Amino acid sequence: MKMTPFIVLLVTGLFTSASVQATSLYVGQYKAGTVCAQCHGIRMPAAGAPFPPLGGRDPEYLKTAIKQYRDKTRKSDIMNAIAGSLTDSEINDIAAYYGSVKP
Ligand code: HEC
Repeated sequence: MKMTPFIVLLVTGLFTSASVQATSLYVGQYKAGTVCAQCHGIRMPAAGAPFPPLGGRDPEYLKTAIKQYRDKTRKSDIMNAIAGSLTDSEINDIAAYYGSVKP
């Protein structure tokens, strides 16, 4: 599957929004809806789909995974690029949001 041009467009376009200070599910939902939802669904994807679902997952697991992508201790060209520009507070918000939704 050839995805590289798609990913470059996505990554350059998505992180231009102003950063928000408050910690909230709202911020997490906004980020998740505008960025992560391009690839990750809430429900289980079809078998073999490359994007793991995030809804209803353990927030601690999600935080750890996203930080590992940011630090590149977990490798994924796509997720390393996406997580690279997230702040701790955005990661907390996003993990809290996904943890709060029912798959
Ligand atoms: C361009 C598509 C794309 C976007 C946008 C994207 N992801 Fe991912 N994500 C992936 C892929 C592909 C994987 C699987 C990578 C791997 O094999 O480790 C993944 C894996 C993950 C995982 C690991 C899940 C698990 O089961 O271990 C987490 C957590 C995650 N992404 C969070 C996010 C968050 C949060 C955002 C939004 C800030 C986001 N992703 C945006 C494509 C994307």
